[in-house]
Amino acid sequence: MDWITLTLSLIVIVISAHLLFSENHTNAPPCIKGWIPWFGAALEFGKAPLDFIADARAKHGPVFTVYATGKRLTFVTLHEDFRTFFMSKDVDFEQAVQDACYNTASISKESFFKFHPACNALIKGRLTPGNSAMLATHLCEEFNEQLELLGDSGTRCLNDLVRSVMYPAVMSNLLGKCNSPQQNGSMKEFKERFTVYDEGFEYGSQLPDMFLREWSTAKHWLLSLMGNMIVRAEEGEHTDTGRKTLLQHLVTTITDKFLPNYGLLMLWASLANAIPITFWAIAFMMSKPSTYKKAMEEIHATLKNQDTKNTSITLEDLQEMPYVKWCILEATRLRAPGAITRRVVRPLKLQNYIIPPGDMLMVSPYWAHRNPEYFPDPEEFKPERWEEADLVKNVFLEGFVAFGGGKYQCPGRWYAIMELHMFVAMILYKFDFTLLDPLPKPSSLHLVGTQQPEGPCTVEYRHR
Ligand code: HEM
Repeated sequence: MDWITLTLSLIVIVISAHLLFSENHTNAPPCIKGWIPWFGAALEFGKAPLDFIADARAKHGPVFTVYATGKRLTFVTLHEDFRTFFMSKDVDFEQAVQDACYNTASISKESFFKFHPACNALIKGRLTPGNSAMLATHLCEEFNEQLELLGDSGTRCLNDLVRSVMYPAVMSNLLGKCNSPQQNGSMKEFKERFTVYDEGFEYGSQLPDMFLREWSTAKHWLLSLMGNMIVRAEEGEHTDTGRKTLLQHLVTTITDKFLPNYGLLMLWASLANAIPITFWAIAFMMSKPSTYKKAMEEIHATLKNQDTKNTSITLEDLQEMPYVKWCILEATRLRAPGAITRRVVRPLKLQNYIIPPGDMLMVSPYWAHRNPEYFPDPEEFKPERWEEADLVKNVFLEGFVAFGGGKYQCPGRWYAIMELHMFVAMILYKFDFTLLDPLPKPSSLHLVGTQQPEGPCTVEYRHR
């Protein structure tokens, strides 16, 4: 190609990109476009997306669009607009997440739209507050067993410690004991592969596998593991709880070849958000002596002189420990997911703007929980604020959106709260902890899911 053809081609590319790029939407919110065609503001946005959202909100007002890698992400930051986000018929959950499900679990578009409704209904139905309660006795046995493996004393990164105990316990509870990695000797490898998959999930949801070699290897390893789990689930006649596991229910719901792929997403959803919150809850409690003291008094008053090697925590016991539950919810508030999403399918009116179809509509629970009108002293870990919530009737504080909302609100939320409540009470009853590092900051790198710690958080522990 001579230089004239090359120059002309470049001019044509730049002009067409510019035309595409500067597409005007009447009455649309302010748009942050960056200067690179197609990439838009992706580089600045990707560096620290949570900080970017806060700066953009201060500069452009409560509704703004970020143009990045060919997509328009329109952020909605006023609480008064959240109802529209969750309830409007002009926005759609499945259309918003389908691409991500293809990239992260290789589920075809056709299969996704065919089976997602049944999959959602199944998980919602199996994990109602009543059904979650039925999983409590078995979960308690699992936590006991796994916590005893920690030994009499040690020094470890708290995040890693929580993962080592909770992964096998929760997997046994939801997928069956035969599918717990501890049971079949693959715990170390499972933890490594799952951590790679989880940490790369956000990039993996947007980029093809070929750009993420290590992540893609972990994904395929997990898919093959899930395939084996499904065989065991199909063979297993009865389970330790005497009823079908969540995985066994999934097996009867998804009837195409993507069953292991749905299994992987369900596994990811059940571990990826709850386990970092468990870490944060314990770390916050230990870093605030008055909170720790109050929680320990409540735990000791409820569990009295139980055997610390074989501790039983019933649902009635959990009801006697509301303060520990407030600590869990307060940690969830402070480390809530960076963003949740819907796709606009028809022009949507918000404030004085019309959001065009095709836009990804975004709400950030992380930032919503820092609005002082709803949460005074928003950065402070204050479990007492949850006294106002009617938790007996399963009502959260107004403005709390960590589990999303509307029809697609997290179907695992009641299980998550029960699981975390039981785990935190049990680990603090069995072990005495000393924090060796200051409380880490949350990493500002991720929008998907609850927040990960930016640095290490080492603890020394001793069995009581
Ligand atoms: C503290 C822990 C958790 C948090 C903060 C959390 C948060 C969320 C959020 C924000 C969503 C999206 C909701 C929306 O867009 O409106 C979601 C979806 C989901 N969550 Fe959770 N979650 C947690 C624990 C769990 C657990 C333990 C399970 C399963 C046992 C679970 C299963 C799911 C599933 C399956 C979906 C996708 C639903 C669908 O595709 O229809 N989650 N979660």
